[in-house]
Amino acid sequence: MEKTFAIIKPNAFADGNSGKIIDRILQEGFRIVGLKKLFLSQAEAEGFYHVHRQRPFFGELTEFMASGPCIVMVLEAEGAIQKWRDLMGATNPAQAAEGTLRRQFGKSLGENATHGSDAPETAAFEIGYFFSGLELR
Ligand code: RTP
Ligand code: MG
Repeated sequence: MEKTFAIIKPNAFADGNSGKIIDRILQEGFRIVGLKKLFLSQAEAEGFYHVHRQRPFFGELTEFMASGPCIVMVLEAEGAIQKWRDLMGATNPAQAAEGTLRRQFGKSLGENATHGSDAPETAAFEIGYFFSGLELR
């Protein structure tokens, strides 16, 4: 079984869509191994997205992630990393396929409702950034 890391981003949380997203996660057969609600500081958001620090959208991205509460989760399934990215859909909600979470709950490229790890190494970093081993049983 593989684990991946997911976020219900501040726009989806503020819109009251967390429950619908969690329901969909369970319907699709993921096990929720860890879950918590957080309100990231600017520094915490910058540390999380450090791989994007040179990108022009880094300021906008991290300010958005620190703009309100979010829900961070560890999800487990066969092929969880790709399975969760498939369920989220394309980064830009306007290009995300019908039936995906970003299509349904995303507002724009920045406010795109969810985050998911893109590879095993990033999943390991991202899970460890927010959860201790004791929280993931
Ligand atoms: P994420 O990391 O949030 O799951 O999204 P992703 O892999 O699909 O996309 P990534 O390339 O890692 O970009 C991270 C987040 O940055 C925002 N973004 N803004 N203004 C822009 O050009 C731009 N490009 C990306 C998006 O919110 C994306 O989710
Ligand atoms: Mg990414």
